Amino acid sequence: MRKMPNPPTHQPSRGSATASLPTTQIGRKDRDPGRSPVELSGSPDVESIVTQEPVLVLGATGKTGRRIVPRLRLHGTPVRAASRTSPTPFDWSAPVGWDAALHGVAAVYIVPPSAVGPVHEFVARAEAAGVQRLVLLSGRGADTWGDTSFGLDMRDAEAAVRDSALQWTILRANNFNQNFNEDIFYAPLLSGELALPADDVPEPFIDIDDVADVATTVLTDPAHHAGVTYELSGPRAITFEEAAELISRACGQPIAYKQVSPEEYTVMLVERGLSVDIAHDITEMFVMMGRGLITGTAAATDDVAAVLGRSPRTFEDYVVRTAAKGVWQR
Ligand SMILES: NC(=O)c1ccc[n+]([C@@H]2O[C@H](COP(=O)([O-])OP(=O)(O)OC[C@H]3O[C@@H](n4cnc5c(N)ncnc54)[C@H](OP(=O)(O)O)[C@@H]3O)[C@@H](O)[C@H]2O)c1
Repeated sequence: MRKMPNPPTHQPSRGSATASLPTTQIGRKDRDPGRSPVELSGSPDVESIVTQEPVLVLGATGKTGRRIVPRLRLHGTPVRAASRTSPTPFDWSAPVGWDAALHGVAAVYIVPPSAVGPVHEFVARAEAAGVQRLVLLSGRGADTWGDTSFGLDMRDAEAAVRDSALQWTILRANNFNQNFNEDIFYAPLLSGELALPADDVPEPFIDIDDVADVATTVLTDPAHHAGVTYELSGPRAITFEEAAELISRACGQPIAYKQVSPEEYTVMLVERGLSVDIAHDITEMFVMMGRGLITGTAAATDDVAAVLGRSPRTFEDYVVRTAAKGVWQR
């Protein structure tokens, strides 16, 4: 792994909210390369001051939220962990509870709902509650998805956040590494066969621990990231077949990759218990990837390094860390 990032070739896109901010990007000028967000907690600067009010973390029991909460706490930032089953109750379908969750918070990490609409009202309430900044999780290349139905929820949430009067940062992530052990690809791996309509499209998978590191940095160092949309990828694009092979080798279990059609994949997902709508949505993602609409040339970006001052974790690093937990044994 490189110790120092290359100069960014991909320029994170800034929104109008940054018009009055310095154009020197994302504050690397006052940070030692390679220091983690946690290490920043000792810095007696504005970061410590602005984080005394709590950060509301939505989706706090989810894959990103549950990694961000302890990072913020270790940084010294008060955290309000929220979801339907978290200490702070929060339900996207019950707006009556939102004001209590928002009361007195400085910033919100938003995992959007899988529906169009609610984030607009949530943002309005956040403005009324005196929240200062929003950090939204979205998907890589969300402005290139054209007229597809894929990700309408994420695109709607992006519009709500961008249109707000608050400071905002959008984190657009590629497919997570951890989808292979905490989400949709886990059960197929355990069955010994990963069947996908993925062809040989390369994907620069990103480690959720890097997403969490970036989110924590952005939430605790807001001045340098306001109005910026980051495209977060891992360091190298690999095919899903190669991903399955790397996991198979590391855990010593045979795992075959099988190419299926989009139609076959939708049927498989429904048979596994997903709703027809969600099955179509996931299938649509692969169709779009095949058309080059999600990752463009499937190139890795430098945005993780631009925020953190270090390279993103490799897929191989994820595989050995995860294989050591024994989760892929059967
Ligand atoms: N997977 C990927 O590769 C990938 C890549 C890029 C972007 N994304 C985006 O990431 C988002 C998911 O984030 P994640 O992976 O961190 O979460 P996740 O693991 O999918 O967990 C969902 C979280 O949302 C909460 N939640 C579910 N329904 C809710 C409701 N009605 N009201 C309030 N909270 C609710 C859940 O907690 P409770 O059950 O306790 O409520 C949980 O904390 C999606 O928008 C997805 O499109 C995913």
